[in-house]
Amino acid sequence: MDRHNLIHDRNVGNRSEAFELYDDIPATSVKSRTLGDLIEARYSRRDTLRGLLGVSAMGAFFGSTATLAPEPVSASATPDIAHQPGTKPFAFTELEWGNDQTHHVAPGYRAEILLRWGDPITDQAPEFDVMNQSAHAQLQQFGYNNDFVGFLPLNPEATRGLLCVNHEYTNEEVMFPRLGRQDKVDFAGMTATLIEIEMAAHGGSVVEVERDQTGNWAVNREGRMNRRISPLHSPIAISGPAAGHPRLQTHADPSGRSVIGTLNNCAGGMTPWGTWLMAEENFHGYFWTDRLHPDGKPDLSHQSEAKQLRRYRAPGRWYGWGKFHDRFNIDKEPNEINRFGWVVEVDPKDPNAEPVKHTALGRFSHEGAECTLSKEGHLVVYMGDDARFEYLYKYVSAARVTPGSKGSTALLQDGTLFVARLEEDGHLNWLPLTHGLGPLTAENGFASQADVLIDTRLAADALGATPMDRPEDVQPRGDGTVYVILTNNSRRKAHQVDAANPRAKSRFGHIIEVKEDQGDHAAQQGRWEILIKCGDPSIAEVGAEWHPETSENGWFGSPDNCAFDAEGRLWVATDQGSRWNKTGKSDGLYAIETEGVKRGLSKLFFRCPVGGELCGPCFTPDGETLFLAVQHPGTDGTKSLKGFARASTFEDPATRWPDFDPKMPPRPSIVVVTREGGGKIAG
Ligand code: FEO
Ligand code: CA
Ligand code: CA
Repeated sequence: MDRHNLIHDRNVGNRSEAFELYDDIPATSVKSRTLGDLIEARYSRRDTLRGLLGVSAMGAFFGSTATLAPEPVSASATPDIAHQPGTKPFAFTELEWGNDQTHHVAPGYRAEILLRWGDPITDQAPEFDVMNQSAHAQLQQFGYNNDFVGFLPLNPEATRGLLCVNHEYTNEEVMFPRLGRQDKVDFAGMTATLIEIEMAAHGGSVVEVERDQTGNWAVNREGRMNRRISPLHSPIAISGPAAGHPRLQTHADPSGRSVIGTLNNCAGGMTPWGTWLMAEENFHGYFWTDRLHPDGKPDLSHQSEAKQLRRYRAPGRWYGWGKFHDRFNIDKEPNEINRFGWVVEVDPKDPNAEPVKHTALGRFSHEGAECTLSKEGHLVVYMGDDARFEYLYKYVSAARVTPGSKGSTALLQDGTLFVARLEEDGHLNWLPLTHGLGPLTAENGFASQADVLIDTRLAADALGATPMDRPEDVQPRGDGTVYVILTNNSRRKAHQVDAANPRAKSRFGHIIEVKEDQGDHAAQQGRWEILIKCGDPSIAEVGAEWHPETSENGWFGSPDNCAFDAEGRLWVATDQGSRWNKTGKSDGLYAIETEGVKRGLSKLFFRCPVGGELCGPCFTPDGETLFLAVQHPGTDGTKSLKGFARASTFEDPATRWPDFDPKMPPRPSIVVVTREGGGKIAG
């Protein structure tokens, strides 16, 4: 064969499996550690469930975000509550686990469809016509695979607001008729037109929504702030220490300061001043090369940045964009890839404001970018690099958030990026990724801070950061507490087990709780503790650890996104990928007690239709509304669905959720959850 597709060569079942498989390619030199007696003692089931760290530091700094924030704090930022956060027990009747063609929510709640892929989001937008799609129409319609959801209130009651939604990626086999999986056939069926539609379906949407007197939420298509952002049409500025660097310069942009678009926007965050952070995750998958070895792997021998490309597992060739757009072909435009993998800031209230890629926050597979404030009012952004054996990061701004300031430019351009080392004894050290400090020097390949940031993974390797089991969402609570979601890592071998990643072949993941020193998110030290180890607690070999009252419904595998509600309580969504049959359960949303005697107790609240993962849990500030994003319904692992047992296509999907119209394929959608009769979710 003259041109192999990597995914095809490795016999991958669908795109999710490709994501999982490519995480398997070792890119770090993983340190080997021994699980000693100390760790055994520290992480015994009894001690974990008791919660060794206690709650004494909690609440010490609560409310500062609200005090300092110049504008209403977004729903995904720190909640402002009177009592100690997370201490109010969840009050709802647990949902039964299962897996079928539709969604389910706990008894006493409503879960309504609010926005679907293709829904018009402006008054001029055409109605969705799935058989006659165009990029022009898609750019006025809600995009594909909704992931992060932020809510920015537009009135004091927060009954009107802007939904800020990421559209992570596309599934051509259920988007377009008569196409099937294209990554298996070297994208032979992907025309330039289809690829432009794919590109238009990526990125993000700003959509005004409003709750009426009866408690129903609806989209306001006439909202003047409604807009789409995409990798096809949106100019984006580049800021910070790497802006303008020769490694960011291209034929189309000799300045190195402006790039078209953002892609693979996974989770994200909202800043205290009301802007939206979109994290660019698996950017490497969008880049192409025509030069392949006979085994199908990229031939990088002609690339001057071969080392950096390998470290980022690029080019992935997950999409055929590079066949029609030279900038996505590294043979033709080698620097374009350096312009992706960043955190992008968008001002949702100004539809004319150009988004900005902030290089100071580093370049890696950003899962999310959740914000809080330090005790002295510095912006702190927590971030995971979602790939096996990658790292946990945080960014601390040099300046403080000041009331009334817009804040964004200085705060996200000038600061310190840290990477985490989780010590065996439960201490956590934040190591600064600062040029000139330690090994980050020209002799070691880092000529400037721009190099440290463009090659963040290499810099973090040099500092000896702790390779983790795929860091997904990282959620700070404002009181110095942080939850780190580690989704799974089936490639960790026994000799690679360490205290913070305690299971070899970790198929179900775990959640770590961090307490920053003095309850201060700017601290350079802290302590960490495992909150739960996921998986079926009834199977001893799994090694799961939950509160013993966690039911058959409540345990889960592969946590991914998370959020706090208005009470500061933790909610976790799952993404098991194509291998959900390891649990037999649909992905869903779980409420997890973190304080007191119930610490580690998990309860199922919502579950997805088959083949979908759950993203974007986002509560309104009053705690009465929950927005959920059901991503790629009907696609993941449908060969494991009894009675279906085959891969989904446009013509033959495992579910047609949410329309259940025989002419419509499944559509990724936003679901809005409220309590029947009104009131706070989970009491
Ligand atoms: Fe896009 Fe790591 O989930
Ligand atoms: Ca995710
Ligand atoms: Ca989150």
